[in-house]
Amino acid sequence: MTTRRAAIILAAGKSTRMKSSRSKVLHPVGGRPMIEWVTSLAKGAGVEKIVCVVGEGNADVRAAAEALGLDIAIQEPQQGTGHAVQCAKSALEGFEGQVVVLYADTPLITGPTLSRVFDAFETHAMSVLGFEPDDPAAYGRLVTQGKDLYAIVEAKECTEEQLSIGLCNSGVVAASAADLFSACDRVTNANAKGEYYLTDIVEILRSDGKSATVVNASEAEVLGVNDRRDLAKAEAAFQSVMRENAMVSGVSLKHPETVYFSYDTVLEPDVTVEANVVFGPGVTVKRGTTIHSFSHLEGTVVGEGANIGPFARLRPGTVLAENTKVVNFVETKKAKVGKGSKINHLSYVGDAELGEGVNVGAGTITCNYDGYNKHKTIIGDGAFIGSNSSLVAPVNIGAGAFLGSGGVVTNNVPDDALALARAKQVNKKDWGARFRAVQEKLKAKKS
Ligand code: UD1
Ligand code: CA
Repeated sequence: MTTRRAAIILAAGKSTRMKSSRSKVLHPVGGRPMIEWVTSLAKGAGVEKIVCVVGEGNADVRAAAEALGLDIAIQEPQQGTGHAVQCAKSALEGFEGQVVVLYADTPLITGPTLSRVFDAFETHAMSVLGFEPDDPAAYGRLVTQGKDLYAIVEAKECTEEQLSIGLCNSGVVAASAADLFSACDRVTNANAKGEYYLTDIVEILRSDGKSATVVNASEAEVLGVNDRRDLAKAEAAFQSVMRENAMVSGVSLKHPETVYFSYDTVLEPDVTVEANVVFGPGVTVKRGTTIHSFSHLEGTVVGEGANIGPFARLRPGTVLAENTKVVNFVETKKAKVGKGSKINHLSYVGDAELGEGVNVGAGTITCNYDGYNKHKTIIGDGAFIGSNSSLVAPVNIGAGAFLGSGGVVTNNVPDDALALARAKQVNKKDWGARFRAVQEKLKAKKS
């Protein structure tokens, strides 16, 4: 029989140190708000219910949590982590199973680590995720003997001896719902901060004859975000993991520290990424493709063997088939580009569908917007778009058609036709010589 699981996410803090009009836990790491990271961690552990504890002032967090399908518990005023957990009690009324407490401002804990927290129930009644920070500073200290955890002591309450303990509390705590709430009911605020410390439940449960243990994590994984400096640290830790993972899975990063990933970036083996590339959310790049320097991609799928950039800007809705080229200073948006098609220089292609083997000349623009609505450009297989063409959408360029350079194309072009949409060239014989003669004469008169 599998044990039922639930999670409580603490997010009632005021996040003053962030100095932001937005609540702290809505700030993104790797392109995803912190609260979503924690939610996805809990869901990955198979929890059947997630209760998010928010303050009355956190309307934005509440809205985000509701949008994620979480149950809401209000904590007002905020009287400490133990009080926060107690506030979630009625939302978990009747739930019999294991409960893990997570902080919404600690985004980088991984699924396997959380699994180990739950695995600890095989031998102990309670488990706490611990770590050994470079500087234990204000973290709660874990008092242990062997695998057994005896107490968590907040830094402010520590004796000299306890302060020298290197093993600290990450904040992640798991126990059965019955143990968790029965212990929280007995936590008092008789301490340095006058708060109800969740951490006191270790000693309370031990006095009930129950055991507790510690599961270890790395400092990078349990990094908590209090201010913008921590946010940058969390981002750096996330990026470093993504770079490692990419390279281990067969992606070449020429200058890893300059490549930026999002939480959902997918790069297949044998993709090469040059320096200074940014992957916004929603990018998949298939095998054998090279992303050249200074390219920025988001919401984009790039097929096998493609060549992207340098200086390509691929915006949401871009889907490039295999062996496509979207190269120097090209911007795309909602653009489907067929196999082997090339957009090589200085173009904007938006709200467009290009067939296979299309050649888009330098400086081509799809004029997709009339100030009110967006319109579509469709280009058939093998069409040749001359340089500096303006394609005024909605417009349909037939397969195999040619557009003369410099055209402003407002009408559909049939398959295999040549469209010339520019003024006809006029050559005036000897005009230059006559012009110069007149100008020279005028100049002579003046001097
Ligand atoms: C807490 C732990 C400490 C641990 C540290 C790790 C306690 C008493 N201490 O300390 O042992 O080393 O985290 O970062 O638990 N929150 C609420 N309501 C409240 C208070 C806090 O929802 O009334 C939320 C905050 O939004 C935050 C989390 O709980 O997400 C932690 O609160 P914080 O005040 O930062 O705890 P620390 O003092 O850092
Ligand atoms: Ca904290």
